[in-house]
Formats: sequence, C-alpha cells, structure tokens
Amino acid sequence: MGKKIFSGVQPTGNLHLGNYLGAIKNFVNLNNDNENECIFCVVDLHAITVKQDPKELKKNIRETVATFVASGIDPKKSIIFNQSAVAAHAEGAWILSCVARMGWLNRMTQFKEKAGKDKEKASVGLYSYPVLMAADILLYDASHVPVGDDQKQHLELCRDIAQKFNNDFEIENFLQVPEPLIQKEFSRIMSLKDGSKKMSKSELSDLSRINLTDTKDQIVNKIKKAKTDPLPMPKTVKELDERLEAKNLIGIYASLTNSNLEKSVETFAGKNFSEFKEKLSEVLVGKIEPISLEIKKLLDNQSYLDNILLEGAEKANLISSKKIKKIKEIVGF
Ligand code: AMP
Ligand code: TRP
Repeated sequence: MGKKIFSGVQPTGNLHLGNYLGAIKNFVNLNNDNENECIFCVVDLHAITVKQDPKELKKNIRETVATFVASGIDPKKSIIFNQSAVAAHAEGAWILSCVARMGWLNRMTQFKEKAGKDKEKASVGLYSYPVLMAADILLYDASHVPVGDDQKQHLELCRDIAQKFNNDFEIENFLQVPEPLIQKEFSRIMSLKDGSKKMSKSELSDLSRINLTDTKDQIVNKIKKAKTDPLPMPKTVKELDERLEAKNLIGIYASLTNSNLEKSVETFAGKNFSEFKEKLSEVLVGKIEPISLEIKKLLDNQSYLDNILLEGAEKANLISSKKIKKIKEIVGF
C-alpha cells in the first residue's frame, strides 16, 4: 500500500549537501513511487523562529521550491506549498501546544543547541517549534515522515502529542501516529572542516558545506580544501570510528554512488586522499552541478515558482481545513 508522506524544509538559505543526502534525495524517491501521496512544505513559519530579513526570506522561499523541483520532485505529482499560506498550521499548533507538556519540550536538544547560552533571549517560537512541526504532520494524517537524523527527537514528540490527544479526548486513532523515515546510513552529513559538527546552513565558513547552488569550480575547490588526516585512506570501516573527516567524505561518496561504506572503503583502501578526492569531486559535480544549473534557471521564472506554491496551497488547504474543523469539534469549540 502507498504511504502518505509529509516533510518540511526551512527556507533559511544555503540548502546544502546534508539537506540533499539526508532528506531531499529521499523525497525524490518517494515522489517517484506512484503509490505514495507526497506533501512537501516550505516551512516559513518555522524560519521566523530566528530573525529573518523579510526580503531574503521571500527569496529563500522561492529558492527552496526551485531546489525541490530541480532535485526531481514533480509538482504535478506531489503537493508543494508554503506553510504560512495555509491557516490550519498555526491554528493546529496552538491547540496542540495545550496538549504538549512543558517537560517534553524541555528535553528537546535542538532548542538547547539553537538557543545557546542565553536562553532568556531565545524567541518563544523557537521553544515551541516542535509543536508546530507536529501540527504540520498531523493535519495531513501522514503515515511516514522522511527527515535527517537531527529531527528524530521532534518526531518522537509528534508521536507523543498525537497519542495524548487521542487519549485525552478518548478518540482512538483520530490523529495518525506517524513513522519516521530516517536513512540508516548517511542521515547525518558533517562539516567539511570539522567531522564532529553537522553540515549546516548557518555555519559562517562557506567552505564547510557544498551548497546546492555551487558551481563546478566551487565544488572542486571545497573538496580540495576539505579537512582530512595525514594517514593514507583507511583499510577497514572500523578505523573510521576514529577518523571522522575520512568517515564523512567516504560516506558522502558512498551515498552519492548508491553504495555502502564497506565497498567504498575497499575501493580506496591505502590510497592517497588526493586520489580519492579527485573521484569524490567527480561524482559530486556529476550530481550537484545539474541541480545547481536547474535551480538558477528556475529562479529566472518567478511566476512559475509562485504558481506551484499557489496551487499547492489550495490543495493543502482542502485537506487540512477538514482536519482542523474536526479537531475543533473534538476540543469543544
Ligand atoms: P532544515 O534545513 O533544518 O530545514 O532541514 C531540512 C532537512 O534536511 C531535515 O530533514 C533535516 O533533518 C535534514 N538535514 C539538515 N542538515 C543535515 C545534515 N547535515 N545531514 C543530514 N540531513 C540534514
Ligand atoms: N523542523 C524541520 C527541520 O528543521 C522542518 C520541518 C518542519 C519538518 N515541519 C516539518 C520536517 C514536518 C518534517 C515534517 O528540518
């Protein structure tokens, strides 16, 4: 039987290889399976939990749509829309925030990381962010949610919220408890400059990530400069536990070539990093350059992108307005 897929990406710029390998590549595979119903949301309400420049935000919303389409998501098959265009998300988030418990949210590690040392200055939205994410998913009765490893805890919270709502209002299986779809390998791509840090949009150094809009020369240069260690290429997967940068680069290679760590380690065992890096650049350019060129082409056609969002919002609204109506009835409004 087909799956009901929902996932979201924040329009905060610099979409990178981690977003692609951890999430978007999976979206494309799910979109290509005709049995599935897929909804991909540009989560602009989530984006404003940290300060955004309004002009940049608008640009980044379009860029995220362009990235989805350039990567292979077909807007005729999947619903693509932006969260703020569909009122049920904010409404649902409020109601669910009265179901979620403070204790649950206090455990969220991403808030702790993002808020940093000065929690008093973090926005209230940043704290309640996972509740909005739960509303996104539950409004569409999603059965499966493809995400990178960093969203695992938020999905567990979403499951807890759905179960508590069903229990509190004694209405079994009303909110569908979703399953996470997290790839076993390569669900966490690390920085090219530090193998212990996640590849991230907000990292200051552009050399730490491959952006999906990078040119061929930029990609080759970043791989050339990527951190390694002085030893030759590892001979066993076990060795990778202590060689984080090597592990990350080989993981990227394996993921891009639809292979696995063992085979990729075997291919390059004992060789120089420079030889491996040349091969890695080649596969990266092969995969990312066409996406990058297509994003640029699509960005020249703003009305096409805006239209995808408009049509997507209409379809999303049709589904979610029915669900929020029922939620309100159940609550007693
Ligand atoms: P975000 O950019 O935070 O909205 O993330 C969009 C999607 O990309 C989510 O499913 C994340 O889990 C995934 N993601 C973000 N960074 C990485 C990374 N470094 N490695 C793997 N997946 C990632
Ligand atoms: N919080 C997710 C992230 O930062 C984005 C997101 C928002 C999402 N709503 C979602 C992902 C619903 C999956 C399902 O990556």
